[in-house]
Amino acid sequence: MSRTSKPRLDPIASSRAPGKIILSGEQFVVLGAPAVAMAVNLYSRVEAWRSESGPMEVSADIPLQIVDEASKKSSVEKNQGLLEPLRLAALATLDHLREKDRAVQLNANCEIPIGAGLGSSASITVATISAVAKSRRARLEKSEIFKLAFVPERYLHGKPSGVDQATCAYGGIIQFRRPARIKRLSIKRPPKILVCDSGVHRSTRALVGSVVKKSRKEIGRFREHLEEVSAVSNSVVKSLKDEDTTDLGSLMNRNHELLRQIGVSTPRLDKLVTVARKAGALGAKLTGAGGGGCIIALVDDPKTRLKVERALRKEQGTLYDVSVDPRGVV
Ligand code: PMV
Repeated sequence: MSRTSKPRLDPIASSRAPGKIILSGEQFVVLGAPAVAMAVNLYSRVEAWRSESGPMEVSADIPLQIVDEASKKSSVEKNQGLLEPLRLAALATLDHLREKDRAVQLNANCEIPIGAGLGSSASITVATISAVAKSRRARLEKSEIFKLAFVPERYLHGKPSGVDQATCAYGGIIQFRRPARIKRLSIKRPPKILVCDSGVHRSTRALVGSVVKKSRKEIGRFREHLEEVSAVSNSVVKSLKDEDTTDLGSLMNRNHELLRQIGVSTPRLDKLVTVARKAGALGAKLTGAGGGGCIIALVDDPKTRLKVERALRKEQGTLYDVSVDPRGVV
């Protein structure tokens, strides 16, 4: 942590943090396996300033798309559920800075779809921590931001591994292992990934909870899964370094199968994954907690990309053409 000494009026401080996709190891990372994740160029932005007086005020312009499964109609509601984690992130930051004065006002907005496996909550909380620190003229190390983000992430997810906030804070492509082994990978040619949102949004907490419960009942099966996922994640790192997209694609396919076996995929996600592969993707898998949310497809060649996009659109998927965010929170 460092503070600048220049006296000045309190300005509006702002920070932005990327979203993320997980190339391998989600869910199993909570149980101790390594994961590989990439920060992507969808952002949340948070402004923070010292309010005139009184308590903390948090406002957010974060639309939450709700899909009514019965009527298939979607509506957009204000996402009040994210205000409490933002408040917790701000409080944790002020405590860390030993700031007694709690008067801070926050304004957040987010272009990352919420509850879709793209790390929206981690991105917003990481940006909040950074912005609140800046509003007190302090700059935090990424390792400090990573640690502080456990407070709101625990509130939201119960048992976060930390992979989401690590990726949103550090940016680039990282290999992550609990509790805090974060290795930034130097990859010359990041994978070309297409993200497709199934439109079904869900709770990470419930999904992670169900997998943790299952892992306690089916110890032998999960031990095998963990060994295999560890091997998959290590091979994903190798394929990224070797720029071996064929290998990376099959590893993604295998990872999806393992996620399917532990019950976090859905018929809709399986369908999108199959459609992407049939249209020419080198590999496809769900990304994030599962139960809905997004799939990712690896598509190297521009012509095939168009085909995959067309096929996924036919399935009513919402497409995000993402690229790597190299900077993390700024
Ligand atoms: O919240 P999501 O859907 O972006 O998923 C986070 C990744 C998990 O492995 C499912 C949970 C975690 O904390 O690692």
